[in-house]
Amino acid sequence: MCGIIGYTGSENAREVLLDALELLEYRGYDSAGVAVKEAGSGKTVVRRCAGRVRDLRKLCETETHFSGCGIGHTRWATHGGVSDVNAHPHQAGSVTLVHNGIIENYRELIADYGLEGKLRSETDSEVVAALLDYFYEGNPQEAVQKTVGRLKGTFALVVMFEDRRDAIYAVRNVSPVVATLCEQGAMLASDLTALCRFTNRYFVLPEYQVLELRKDGVTLWDPDGKVMEPEYQTVDWELNSSGKNGYPFYMEKEIMEQPGAVTRTIEGRIRGGMPDFSADGVPDTLFTDCERICVIACGTAMHAGLVAQALVKSVLHMHIEVEMASEFMYSDPVIDEKTLVIAVSQSGETIDTLEAVKYARLRGAKCLSVINVRGSSIARESDYVIYTSAGPEIAVASTKAYTTQLAVFYLIVARMAHSRGIFTEEETQCFIRELQRTPETIRDVLARRREVHVLAKKVLAAKDLFMIGRGLDHSILLEGSLKLKEVSYIHSEAYASGELKHGPIALITQDTPVVASVTQDKLMSKELSNIREVASRGADVAVFVKDSLAKELEDYELFRLPDMRDEFMVMPASVALQLLAYYVSSDKGFDVDKPRNLAKVVTVE
Ligand code: M6R
Repeated sequence: MCGIIGYTGSENAREVLLDALELLEYRGYDSAGVAVKEAGSGKTVVRRCAGRVRDLRKLCETETHFSGCGIGHTRWATHGGVSDVNAHPHQAGSVTLVHNGIIENYRELIADYGLEGKLRSETDSEVVAALLDYFYEGNPQEAVQKTVGRLKGTFALVVMFEDRRDAIYAVRNVSPVVATLCEQGAMLASDLTALCRFTNRYFVLPEYQVLELRKDGVTLWDPDGKVMEPEYQTVDWELNSSGKNGYPFYMEKEIMEQPGAVTRTIEGRIRGGMPDFSADGVPDTLFTDCERICVIACGTAMHAGLVAQALVKSVLHMHIEVEMASEFMYSDPVIDEKTLVIAVSQSGETIDTLEAVKYARLRGAKCLSVINVRGSSIARESDYVIYTSAGPEIAVASTKAYTTQLAVFYLIVARMAHSRGIFTEEETQCFIRELQRTPETIRDVLARRREVHVLAKKVLAAKDLFMIGRGLDHSILLEGSLKLKEVSYIHSEAYASGELKHGPIALITQDTPVVASVTQDKLMSKELSNIREVASRGADVAVFVKDSLAKELEDYELFRLPDMRDEFMVMPASVALQLLAYYVSSDKGFDVDKPRNLAKVVTVE
């Protein structure tokens, strides 16, 4: 977690860093800081504080000196509480440093190098700054190599040395760093979003290589000191696509972007009406040679996997498991060379998913990953990658990443069904035609978002809420409930409605609103009975219902969803539930994009 940034170039570094930190704030937002080298004097000035980037900006208001070089950090606390002194950058002697990750052996290092009396904070990061200073004898690259040789854990370190005026150094293990040289200078960051204001060309810093950024160049050394060439790639995100575009919150903007994001994700992968992964380099043998599927993911990405599970069972009649990546390695998973592992991740950096992929591949499984961020760690660790085209997702609550992940799963299921001889060509094309309708049905929901806002007002005061549905409706609600929890702080439980009677119905009272999803023709009558059961116990019920099923539910508050084939109803229904969560949070006056305690990219286990 934690956002990091470094810049050296022709623009005022302080401004570049503060703007970038605002974009990176989704990685952690309990404290922030910058260190810049003042032009002229070359003096390093550090400003840092507990709080948001806006608080740091205020703190920097009195700083008028131009500075062409600096580093910045936005923190999600791991070692040491949230305080000014624990905020980054940390300084030790001639070293100023920001760090993302966890140094597991920091206590040993303190003891081994006699650092005890030299530390002011409670952080593992300051220990690294002190160690770097210990090893620094005028050669930054050597000092960095010696230091990382002693570190255990994950890290991205970005460092300035007092006597190196315009240079920044970086090294990493696991935690991501991307960098670029562009017209305005050289820069690096924990995420691409911070760079794409300037350029869409970047390279990923390889693990354990040392990077030097100068105003007009970059140098990379491998651990043996050999100079390496950076491998540049391009991202298809538009420059400035990470702005709010007039919306009050990124979450709303990103919800509204979904028709375009889904269209971009599927359009290049449909040829002659058939799903086609040739441009992704994914061979059909991957789909025909496997005997079972295992989806590994966390949070929203895992919920996309649950929808895939239902599709795989009903269309492909195959064995599939969806594993929470954080539990995967401790659950003795049954993985072998006949298992197709599908890892799903927006960021491509979630450490639990990354470690699970490594584990599965060691056991002989082939891994296909579905990722939004190009060149990210999980993508690089996988045998094959299908990129979603959601564009930068900044709000901590994931929305457009989810619907684009679903879109990829529909394509995968259709391709598998055809290549395994389950679907005829005509059946495959028919399935794909329905997928191509999803942007239009999402647009329909978005156009009627005010109706969802009206429903949202009815649950504003709730402390607890249930979401009920069966089959795919239950999967839809697991995601809807996560969305509501994380942005509105209402305790929400998604429950399979048939299970309610086995215990949780005891919690239903007139103070427990219920949200139901009714989108599956064959489950309609049973879902209706379950809705009546909670209504008769006093609960106010709001139903997200497929239009053609709405007639029998007119006694309840309804939001009518455009009709699609049952398996595709997830798309419009999920968007409606995202809107519900969004309106509850914004009406309550919360910082929708940055819910408490969370961070967008979870890089600690
Ligand atoms: O980047 P990833 O897709 O791997 O992230 C997984 C989860 O951390 C993420 O989906 C999280 O649950 C979101 N905050 C949910 O909105």
